[in-house]
Amino acid sequence: MSTGRFISFEGIDGAGKTTHIDALERLWREAGHEVVRTREPGGTALAEKLRGLFLHDAMDPLTEALLVFAGRRDHIKQVIEPALARGAWVLCDRFTDATFAYQGGGRGFDLQVLTQLEDWVQSGLQPDLTLLFDLPPQVAAARLTQARQPDRFEAQDLDFFERVRAGYRQRMEADPGRFVVIAADQTQTEVAHDIAQALKARGFA
Ligand code: TMP
Repeated sequence: MSTGRFISFEGIDGAGKTTHIDALERLWREAGHEVVRTREPGGTALAEKLRGLFLHDAMDPLTEALLVFAGRRDHIKQVIEPALARGAWVLCDRFTDATFAYQGGGRGFDLQVLTQLEDWVQSGLQPDLTLLFDLPPQVAAARLTQARQPDRFEAQDLDFFERVRAGYRQRMEADPGRFVVIAADQTQTEVAHDIAQALKARGFA
């Protein structure tokens, strides 16, 4: 039986999640929890290999969905479930909401197929809490570093990210109790303050 906590972090590219995940990782370690920091796509040796293909190789939408769920299955079995069973706090930078937002919303891929894959792969496993960093795509795009070559998703246009944002909102509306929506178009200090308030209210502080 799982005694840990599973917390996922979501948002469009450029939402600024990383700084805040870093801060929570430090905070919860200092509070004495075993913290497992991980990410998707990725999180295991196999899933990290699939991540490289997923981000950089052209493929049709069903292949894309199958690949990300294949990596997720390995990640759940090798890392997430064992960590939760030990009582660890798992901080996961993106999880299945990203698939519904990017493949479902952004690419327009069939949500029923995604739901079927979610059922097969997760057997009911969902994060206990999801922090959704929400902001307009224009603001997010301005934040993305120009220094490196964008991957297949970062290279998409603003319309794609509007659909991704709407996809996230749809997921949130279907399961509002799991989500905390953070207005990410504020200063880092304001965002950190909102996160702290929300976590306290949910008993995650
Ligand atoms: P990252 O750069 O935040 O690690 O995420 C990698 C990219 O993969 C990001 O643009 C979102 C995208 N992605 C999907 O399209 N579907 C998914 O299921 C996941 C987890 C990520």
